[in-house]
Amino acid sequence: MCGIVGITGKNDNAVAVLINGLEKLEYRGYDSAGIFVTDSQGQANLVKVKGRIADLKDKLTPDIKGNTGIGHTRWATHGVPSENNAHPHYSENGRFFLVHNGVIGNFKELKDKYLADVKFVSETDTEVVVQLVEHFSNEGLTTKEAFKKTLSVIDASSSYAFLLMDKNEPGTLYAAKSKSPLLIAVGPDFNGVCSDAMAMLKETHDFIELTDGDVVVLTASSIDIEDKDGNHVDRKPFHVDQDASASEKGAYEHYMLKEIDEQPAVMRKIASAYLNEDGSINIDDALLKAMNQSDRLYIVAAGTSYHAGLVGHELFEKLAHIPTEVHVASEFGYNMPLLSEKPFFIFLSQSGETADSRQVLVQVNELNYPSLTITNVANSTLSREADYTLLLHAGPEIAVASTKAYTAQIAVEAVLAKRLGEIKGIKEAAQFDIKADLTTVANAMQTMVDEKHDIEALAKQNLNTTRNAFYIGRAIDYDTAIEAALKLKEVSYVQTEGFASGELKHGTIALIEEGTPVIAIITDPKTAAHTRSNVQEVIARGANVIIITSESLAQPGDQIVLPDVNPLLTPLVSIVPAQLLAYYTSKQRGYDVDKPRNLAKSVTVE
Ligand code: F6R
Repeated sequence: MCGIVGITGKNDNAVAVLINGLEKLEYRGYDSAGIFVTDSQGQANLVKVKGRIADLKDKLTPDIKGNTGIGHTRWATHGVPSENNAHPHYSENGRFFLVHNGVIGNFKELKDKYLADVKFVSETDTEVVVQLVEHFSNEGLTTKEAFKKTLSVIDASSSYAFLLMDKNEPGTLYAAKSKSPLLIAVGPDFNGVCSDAMAMLKETHDFIELTDGDVVVLTASSIDIEDKDGNHVDRKPFHVDQDASASEKGAYEHYMLKEIDEQPAVMRKIASAYLNEDGSINIDDALLKAMNQSDRLYIVAAGTSYHAGLVGHELFEKLAHIPTEVHVASEFGYNMPLLSEKPFFIFLSQSGETADSRQVLVQVNELNYPSLTITNVANSTLSREADYTLLLHAGPEIAVASTKAYTAQIAVEAVLAKRLGEIKGIKEAAQFDIKADLTTVANAMQTMVDEKHDIEALAKQNLNTTRNAFYIGRAIDYDTAIEAALKLKEVSYVQTEGFASGELKHGTIALIEEGTPVIAIITDPKTAAHTRSNVQEVIARGANVIIITSESLAQPGDQIVLPDVNPLLTPLVSIVPAQLLAYYTSKQRGYDVDKPRNLAKSVTVE
């Protein structure tokens, strides 16, 4: 949450680099933004707005330029979205400027203890930090010493990635990180800092990972990293082999539609990444051994990734015969259940940065339990800190609502579950032809994507004005119903519940009234007839029903018919029309599909 970017270089192009970087980071928060730049003569400019990067651009004038600067795009935690609360924040004497991603747990105590006489202009926790740097520098410390002293009084509950500038030292950037992600971008005649490599891929493909406790001083030609123990360390850059254009929208109006459309290709990419020509599976033996030695898998995740975990539960139990539990990360960390004797943890996370999941991984590491992260982002925090990583190969996901990462997570879980079961000689795994099945899934997804205009019409007829809606299903379709409901509510603001269809009659059916949309997902042969009965019950109470079903279970009048695929993989296909319904409902209502209100993509605060 919140994106930060900084550059120190030799050319006067800092504004362009910062704006381009912030546009790439806007998925992390988009309620306000700002930049601070200095030129080689020490001329400084601060520009901040409430609103988007586009609004920030409108406020820039040609005289605002420089070779060094810091920028920020915000997702509000402390204080409403406003120009005053936008970053960069500055100290009372106007010397220090700071951007921050994270939360300072003890900011009130620090304010009371050190800054009682300081006049604050914002309601943020961040301003306390920049005022502290000034406070300690007034005690005669150098900027670096004052910065380090400030870091030393911030408590362990806090999370931060900071970028600091001192107006008296144009050309120098100070950075520090704890829990929030931060990378150094290494260039031939510049150096930069960013929350995500995507922000600086136009400038460089070489990045250095920072770890918690690092303090960095950067100039255009030098990088000085001090680790948490105060040692000067030399970290080798890694190369990001990704084209900057992979995160462009191309001809699409919205990233969400582009990413929905990309799903068949992602299925093929996963097949080619994990499957050999002969269909055998290519996964690290040490990981497979560690998983097969465990007596219980614990999947920990948040939001859509949690929903992918629910499907994973079916896959690991049915194909690998390993008992599996799925937990919401923000609940698990502070209320850990009694664990089995040999637990193995799986962290599902598109971004690899979700703070709720990370706080669980920190505990799991302290307890010395083995772990795997399944993520879309190589070198992300969860990937670095788990014992093993499997990548999603989905390409950058920019729309805040996750689509292709969800289906990629399920596909990777399926490949992994198949291999685990195969090693154990489990019949269901041996019979599961993942190579052929993923191809069938990709084709079925393509059929759905090709029928998007029918789904657009269905959205218009049924969801255009409704205030609430339900998705219902049983078994694996219930897992899909929960994800489908999240998709619709987060982008269209229609209050939607995903419900076990058999459970409706135990109370929630009271909410059904004339015209309430109820979307039933029916792909599970065992429970299809029961869900059909539940559909009749809601029709009898006036519901406006849409049925999403598999070809072999379809009945006359069903609105969305999915090509048949392996029953264990139906969530990969049945979610596609639900994603499209959400997309078109949001678009038809005139909302910002890719950046729904109140949300951000990478949730790096707990
Ligand atoms: C919803 C959505 C979120 C994320 C959740 C976890 O469309 O994208 O619910 O799934 O914030 O994020 P990751 O997967 O990055 O850990």
